[in-house]
Amino acid sequence: MSSQLIAHPGGPLRGEIPLPGDKSISHRAVIFGSLAEGESRIHHLLEGEDVLRTVAAFRAMGVDARREPGGVWRIRGVGLDGLSEPGDVLDMGNSGTGMRLLAGLLAGQPFFSVLTGDDSLRGRPMGRVAVPLVRMGARILGRDNNRCAPLAIQGTELIGIDYLSPVASAQVKTAVLLAGLTASGRTSVSEPALSRDHTERMLTAFGVPVERDGLIVSVTGRPRLQGLELTVPGDISSAAFPMVAALLVPDSEVTLIGVGINPSRTGLLDLLLAMGADIELLNARDAGGEPVADLRVRHSRLRGIRVAPEVVPRAIDEFPIFALAAACAEGETLVTGAEELRVKESDRIHAIALGLGRQGARIEELPDGLRIQGRPEGLEGGSVAEAFGDHRVAMTLMVSGLAAARAVTVRGRANVETSFPGFADTMGILGGRIERVAGEKES
Ligand code: S3P
Repeated sequence: MSSQLIAHPGGPLRGEIPLPGDKSISHRAVIFGSLAEGESRIHHLLEGEDVLRTVAAFRAMGVDARREPGGVWRIRGVGLDGLSEPGDVLDMGNSGTGMRLLAGLLAGQPFFSVLTGDDSLRGRPMGRVAVPLVRMGARILGRDNNRCAPLAIQGTELIGIDYLSPVASAQVKTAVLLAGLTASGRTSVSEPALSRDHTERMLTAFGVPVERDGLIVSVTGRPRLQGLELTVPGDISSAAFPMVAALLVPDSEVTLIGVGINPSRTGLLDLLLAMGADIELLNARDAGGEPVADLRVRHSRLRGIRVAPEVVPRAIDEFPIFALAAACAEGETLVTGAEELRVKESDRIHAIALGLGRQGARIEELPDGLRIQGRPEGLEGGSVAEAFGDHRVAMTLMVSGLAAARAVTVRGRANVETSFPGFADTMGILGGRIERVAGEKES
């Protein structure tokens, strides 16, 4: 028996909320903290399932990582050469970031390891990391001609390369740079557009020289990482859900505290501002090399826009919730150049067109995006929608219920714990009602 979630329409959303720690930054904090010399103390680490899988993987390789009573994570780094062979398969669950980043690291470790994950993760493309790693000398075998996990990795000595990545992907970039840390010589990655740059920023904070020349980033092998104390900013990809909820529900005013506003992640803010959203950035500050601010969001009338393909990598995780904003805006919104959405935790183009279409949205699937005719009067709701096991699709559908005329029921392994533990309670603080009920048996 799996549970379903029901999101009920209601009055304005009001109040202030903190956000869970950034998922991308949390994975990297665990990885670099484990590879550092000395101890790292990580504040506000995301304790979502994805990051806890990464923690478990490093524990299986001999790293002492533990949560202290106040919630701070203490990681005793073992250095670049201190990991030990895991005694079992490393199960990364639903996490593409965990699997791809670890593949890069493990390729250069002197032991054997196997990476696997859930049904969704085992169906996602791994060739994009296997190809450059094999060029560096890695010995990797995977299903479907190295395209899918499980991946079996016999670590070996790697040689630095100059890699021209065909996709703007921070996971690919980071996998190659992690392999580059253990490789001989210099490793550089060039990408077609800037993907999130948390790896570059955090490596620098850990004391590793990182060179950047436009869209090319390079590291030299065998650096020393020095343990540090770090605070993980709130995740803008999680903030996106209460943000759009506040924009859509009349009379709402919500303040999101301590949100990361790294320019490589703020595509959604730019898009919503261009649509006429009332969002103010307050108390801009710095947290461990990452810019942070509080965001005040008020209910707004939105206008449809054409999304320039260059913005796509900067908003890549936000298209499910962006599509909901567009579905309630005046006029047409067109998203193109976003074919990467088809290989996320679900095929997000299909999942979102189907899920929002059920609530009355006028939304058309394109091969590489979506065409949306907005309904400024709001969506009807009143339907059961499928999350396809995708946390961001599930949260989008729940927000659609808070803003629709009638409640929306979300089924289909709607596991938001992946990235936003306590999502329903957090929305509850603002006055949004989301309840969990026993559901039908799912296949
Ligand atoms: C991530 C990069 C992005 C993003 C994912 C997290 C990261 O994936 O979608 O949620 O932490 O590096 P791609 O690199 O595949 O675009």
